[in-house]
Amino acid sequence: MPTRIPVIIDCDTGVDDAMALICGLATDRLDIRAITVVAGNQTLDKTSVNTLNLVDFLGYKVKVSKGADKPLNRELITAEHVHGRSGMGGVKLPESSLRFYEKNAVETIAEEALAAEGQLEIIAVGPLTNIALAILAHPFLKKSIKRITLMGGSIDGGNHTPAAEFNVYVDPEAAQVVMNSGIPIVMVGLEVTEKAYLTKEEIQSLSLWHASDETSKTIKALLENMLEICTMFGYQGAVMHDPLALCYVLDESLIKTKAMAIQVETQGEITRGKTVADRYLVTDRKPNVQVGLEIDRLRFVELIKELLNKYIK
Ligand code: BDR
Ligand code: CA
Repeated sequence: MPTRIPVIIDCDTGVDDAMALICGLATDRLDIRAITVVAGNQTLDKTSVNTLNLVDFLGYKVKVSKGADKPLNRELITAEHVHGRSGMGGVKLPESSLRFYEKNAVETIAEEALAAEGQLEIIAVGPLTNIALAILAHPFLKKSIKRITLMGGSIDGGNHTPAAEFNVYVDPEAAQVVMNSGIPIVMVGLEVTEKAYLTKEEIQSLSLWHASDETSKTIKALLENMLEICTMFGYQGAVMHDPLALCYVLDESLIKTKAMAIQVETQGEITRGKTVADRYLVTDRKPNVQVGLEIDRLRFVELIKELLNKYIK
């Protein structure tokens, strides 16, 4: 068996975050050392409880750490219009009696980075507040995190404002810290995530579509929820922003990337949170980010199917 990749998943669960966790917990390619939670799609009390409930419901024992309840120096903006009041759309999970890990996200990231001796990767699928706070509090992380694969940003337009993607918009200062940390970064932004959709037919062709166990029914409900919201926004299917970032770590051939110099707009009034890419090399900035530009959608769909099938009892 190939060695498992030690990872932390940092998320703001969130419907598509939940799908990313479902996929990540299913694969034996990842060794999930901890899940750290941040405010974003909903407030931290909701995103953290959603995460703990999901991990417990799926039957896994993974540390879940609470992180930041607001951006570095801004008020929190949530995506309730997409993820609903609870953050899980209409999907209800049994309340877990598990406890959160006693260390907060910053200390958990530092602890796991030390334990993994330079091999720890982070998959970040929410606002980058926890990761930025960890880097600011523990500068050794700049040399000891192997890579951060993040869902966020876009080099063209945004989905939250005309300029900015939601995760970066929420905490642009944190994104700027992370992008300029010197840690190898892969930006899985809207250029690729908006193409990472599952059509209604593809969803209905999943084996779990007809299964009647509780896990399959919950996954099905999440997918139906995503399909409904995404179709309302004009997409061709259920868009898997966060699962794509996770799947890239499992199979890098899914996305073609290009090295670019990226800076995050923190001052602009109408461009707040824009990830500005030097595509035409008009500055002397060195590339700091591998930017996802193209995706093999069909292969992605196959991988999602394979991972979800593991849950059928
Ligand atoms: C990102 O924003 C959130 O609403 C999703 O969970 C995803 O991480 C997409 O812009
Ligand atoms: Ca997210």
